[in-house]
Amino acid sequence: MNDFQKELILNLRKFCQNSIESHMEHDDAEGRFRMEIFQGLGDYGVTGVTLPEEFGGANLSYLDYSYILEEIASASVPYAVTVSVSGMVQSILMDFGSRAQQEQYLPALTCGKEIGAFALSESHSGSDAANLKTTAKKVPGGYVLNGTKMWITSGGIAKTYIVMARTGGEGAKGVSAFIVRDGAPGFSFGKAEKKMGWKTSPTRELIFENCFVPEENRLLEEGQGFKVAMGGLDRGRVAIGAIGVGCAQRALDESIKYALTRQQFKQAIFDFQGLQFMLADMATETESSRLLVKAAARSLDSGSPNSKLCSMAKLKATDTAMRVTTDAVQVLGGVGYTAEYPVERFMRDAKVLQIVEGTNQIQRVVIARHLKKEYEHHA
Ligand code: CAA
Repeated sequence: MNDFQKELILNLRKFCQNSIESHMEHDDAEGRFRMEIFQGLGDYGVTGVTLPEEFGGANLSYLDYSYILEEIASASVPYAVTVSVSGMVQSILMDFGSRAQQEQYLPALTCGKEIGAFALSESHSGSDAANLKTTAKKVPGGYVLNGTKMWITSGGIAKTYIVMARTGGEGAKGVSAFIVRDGAPGFSFGKAEKKMGWKTSPTRELIFENCFVPEENRLLEEGQGFKVAMGGLDRGRVAIGAIGVGCAQRALDESIKYALTRQQFKQAIFDFQGLQFMLADMATETESSRLLVKAAARSLDSGSPNSKLCSMAKLKATDTAMRVTTDAVQVLGGVGYTAEYPVERFMRDAKVLQIVEGTNQIQRVVIARHLKKEYEHHA
């Protein structure tokens, strides 16, 4: 980290400890999201990190962003995810939106006044995203959307939704992307999911019943929506990787602190070699995940995202988050399983990191496809 990043993270840590951490045990139990926390992150300048200043962003790099998400995640994975999904919506508007769309939607998102959400998944098309069934039928002046989106992070609390819907035939080429605002006639929210973790981040169904969306809300041309979604996910997957690193780091910190003070058989449990090997592996996995996330973030900063590296970062860091949080509960033993210590919350919050923004099986598919192409190219 350079001096600027150190200063930024030190101050952010204080904010997270005072304004987020203090609520987490209670809000996790109640399933409560607080808009004032998100707006506080906005006031702090971390809800539009990579966006240019002209749209209210902080104009920082993806590398800076990865440190920021890591820090927020080490206090709360769900708030880091709210920031990152809203950030993915911003990057989609920045990369694929018209100037008019950018001016209209970005400023409220970058400053944290509003939240953005991304709507691709449906009940029958999760991993097979190009098979989505929601339709967008062309009518004079725009489109009429019909269908239901599932498992939408920030559903109900977001104001701006990027919605993928079918304007053409089967497959990826028939998909278009639209900006839909909360309150659009025919757009409503379905059930709020009850989940294992991410309790402070609402996950809802989105229901479109003859929902009219004006033509100027389409991103790019008809049929280019799948590329919009995949391009957004390249960036989103690095962000989820950074969140995985923050989650793992927090679990590691809690484990070491506990192991140094907990006495059994007349010595700190840290001094048992069995524990030392476990903690050394946890630290090594966390650090190697961090390095991979940084490499992927640098590829985003270079202007030519490396999808293979983005998927590798997401895969490695979120598998690490699951393993390290699970081991942390083991290190703490009985109390690790109770809400007295935060490690059980981080373990529950880690699980879905292996599922969202493409399951870790899909990340392997993406990596393998790149390997095949590279080797065919060299042959
Ligand atoms: N960037 C740009 N374009 C891309 C791309 C990328 N990274 N990846 C693929 N494309 C393009 C391809 O080039 C292709 O276009 P052409 O035919 O013009 O070349 C088109 O998209 C279709 O690509 P594929 O043939 O590879 O498509 P596929 O049907 O085989 O699917 C997949 C590929 C990787 C499996 C994809 O469906 C996928 O990523 N699935 C997982 C879905 C996912 O990640 N969902 C996450 C939901 S959002 C979420 O979780 C957010 C949250 O709540 C936290």
